[in-house]
Amino acid sequence: MTAIKVMKMSALTRPQPRPGVLDIEAYVPGKSAAPGVAKIYKLSSNETPLGPSPKAIAAYQAVGKHLEDYPDGSSVDLREAIGRAFGLDPDRIVCGAGSDDLLNLIADAYLADGDEAIHTTHGFLVYPIATLGSGAKPIAAPETNYTADVDAILERVTARTKVVFLANPNNPTGTYVPFDEVKRLQRALPPHALLVIDAAYSEYVRRNDYESGIELVATSENVVMCRTFSKIYGLAGLRLGWLYGPAHVVDAINRIRGPFNVNSAVQAAGIAAIQDTAHLEAARAHNDKWLAWLLAEIPKTGLAVTPSIANFVLIHFPTTKGRTAADADAFLTERGLILRRVSAYKLPNALRMTVGSEEANRLVVKAFAEFMGKA
Ligand SMILES: Cc1ncc(COP(=O)(O)O)c(C=O)c1O
Repeated sequence: MTAIKVMKMSALTRPQPRPGVLDIEAYVPGKSAAPGVAKIYKLSSNETPLGPSPKAIAAYQAVGKHLEDYPDGSSVDLREAIGRAFGLDPDRIVCGAGSDDLLNLIADAYLADGDEAIHTTHGFLVYPIATLGSGAKPIAAPETNYTADVDAILERVTARTKVVFLANPNNPTGTYVPFDEVKRLQRALPPHALLVIDAAYSEYVRRNDYESGIELVATSENVVMCRTFSKIYGLAGLRLGWLYGPAHVVDAINRIRGPFNVNSAVQAAGIAAIQDTAHLEAARAHNDKWLAWLLAEIPKTGLAVTPSIANFVLIHFPTTKGRTAADADAFLTERGLILRRVSAYKLPNALRMTVGSEEANRLVVKAFAEFMGKA
């Protein structure tokens, strides 16, 4: 058929994105500026106050001498380093440009028009975005007490369900689903549905009834776990994540990922970061101390806080004029304290705060007390 004939047949006047793309509300990252304020405390993106391991910074810089070389497209040394750290087969690991990259690759590989992917109401926003981007339909399962509810998820499973996204712990609520419940979810899913356990914050968790997903991946054919170097390893700016999955999932993702999706400097930094266990332990110890402090101190200011096991807390504000989350956000921003509005997560009257440095944590609690008239 000639181009002229095709032109006559088509009513479209310009290229069209596939169905679903224009339904996406683009992801809005946490604020990082407070106009006119000299010192800023950014507590809006769950970054670590300790920064990355100095060894990771050195490894990153050393790669600058060889920028002419392509990276190792399959990140072999990095996968081996991750495998050693977690006792995993490196062949079952795929690295990506942040776990965002991997979540999108999973959606691309497993979702098509007419399919459905389930996420929870206050689940990470990338899940519905990646779902719509793949032409599929996102289905929100309500949470109970800001926590993913396995029965609510299962009630929404249909023959069209191809993926179930579960952030564990969840962002922005900081709550978690105990391992027994995750196992119950996996057992009740049809075998064609892929359970994606997003364990971005698992290094922070101190609970005996929690498991990041490694065991379920190892013992089933329809579970994949995603992890990130953006949080406890302090490498958010570099973009590095990894997944651990069954061989058939790893094979599918490797077919569609960018051939050099993790650059050389990132691979080097990731290896150094994962080997610096002392730095990891320091970040964990800092979080243990200040998470507990925030959970104890914030209620004294008159504000409710959801119990969290991650490196952030969700704070709930009154609905009275002058005391809302929007008012608090403005009040804190004027003082250089930048928290995260979470209206896009269907939490219009809450703010999420990353566990920060001692100085930042104390300043926020003091500001909350002032804001609530308790100072
Ligand atoms: C639950 C969850 N998953 C994944 C990510 C994305 O992490 P990355 O920086 O690796 O893309 C985040 C970041 O905020 C997150 O909260």
